[in-house]
Amino acid sequence: MTPIEIKNKIFWVGAVDWNLRDFHGYSTEKGSSYNSYLVLDEKTVLFDTVKKPFLATYLANIRQIIDPSKIDYLVVNHAEMDHSGCLPEMVKIVKPEKIICSRMGEGAIKAHFHESDSWPIDVVDDGAELNLGKRRLRFYEVKMLHWPESMISYLVDDSVLVSNDIFGQHFASSGRYDEDVDFAELMHQAVKYYANIVLPYSPLVQKLIARVGELGLKFDVIAPSHGLIWRNHIGDIVSAYDRWSKNVAKRKALVIYDTMWHSTEKMANAVADGLISEGVEVIVMSLGVSHRSDIMTEVIDSRALIFGSPTLNNGILPRIADFLTYLKGLRPQDKIGAAFGSYGWGGEAVKIINEYLESMKIKLVDDGVKVKFVPREDDLKKCFELGVKVAKALKD
Ligand code: FEO
Repeated sequence: MTPIEIKNKIFWVGAVDWNLRDFHGYSTEKGSSYNSYLVLDEKTVLFDTVKKPFLATYLANIRQIIDPSKIDYLVVNHAEMDHSGCLPEMVKIVKPEKIICSRMGEGAIKAHFHESDSWPIDVVDDGAELNLGKRRLRFYEVKMLHWPESMISYLVDDSVLVSNDIFGQHFASSGRYDEDVDFAELMHQAVKYYANIVLPYSPLVQKLIARVGELGLKFDVIAPSHGLIWRNHIGDIVSAYDRWSKNVAKRKALVIYDTMWHSTEKMANAVADGLISEGVEVIVMSLGVSHRSDIMTEVIDSRALIFGSPTLNNGILPRIADFLTYLKGLRPQDKIGAAFGSYGWGGEAVKIINEYLESMKIKLVDDGVKVKFVPREDDLKKCFELGVKVAKALKD
């Protein structure tokens, strides 16, 4: 992909990964990109690198603009290897005067790259400023967005924020800007990224938004490390982050289930009918066909999460266990929930799901419904009534 000047000698020089389909268990059906940015000034700066297999493409991009050995500073906003994968090679090629990172970044770099003891690591404090010649560069720590050492870089005189993982999307595209792709798809990929990566750190997103306001930072461009660069829809993505991080949810219910012989599936549909009868927006998702990361995307604006699993070997079906484990790590807040499922003899699944939900502080609205083998008419009525009960709880 050809490099582009995004503003006043600030260039995108990253790599597009069209074929990425899995990122730590997150389905990246649109691929991704690893965005790196080059700033030409009296001091030339390269922000982050790209995933290791893309070194050749990356270097070719940089060489279209400058001989890499002329770069003065490497900025490591984040040590995760999708951004630092080419760092050792770039250090050898660039021979940088400084490798700039946060205090925790130094430890993270050293723990990843054992040859880094001889590197010219320059730790910057939160809020530190560096004069590049015609412009100033400022660094802000954003601990846990996405890792403890994460920081963002702000080109003060250009109003350009190099935001690293924040505001990213796993979205490979030929265009580089937010207006180059379908807006609905862009926001879908942005919320999917938020739900699967940023969600546990929502309180820190709120702090960051408040801090940006206090500092009076203005953004003409937000340049994340994945996906499209924001310049036409900055207000949309910042207000979306505000909404998502405040756990603003709708009167919407997700019915998430897996099934062995369709009994639990019949129950899921009856629960959904009960919710729909009360005017609730419902999405029914089978783990047999839906990826965990797509279900997470729907979790964001759903107030109710209702789970169905038959009992298998005194437990729950593996895909339900997988999703509940994944969900727990992503720490959803302010949800209500319930469980249902068929069984043959033990019937432990509903109890196990309830325990999972309680461990996530998801408020149970009912003890749940379980049905021996195949549901009869009156069993499905109980499931319908469970849906109605959840719907009524959503009104409260
Ligand atoms: Fe895109 Fe946390 O790395």
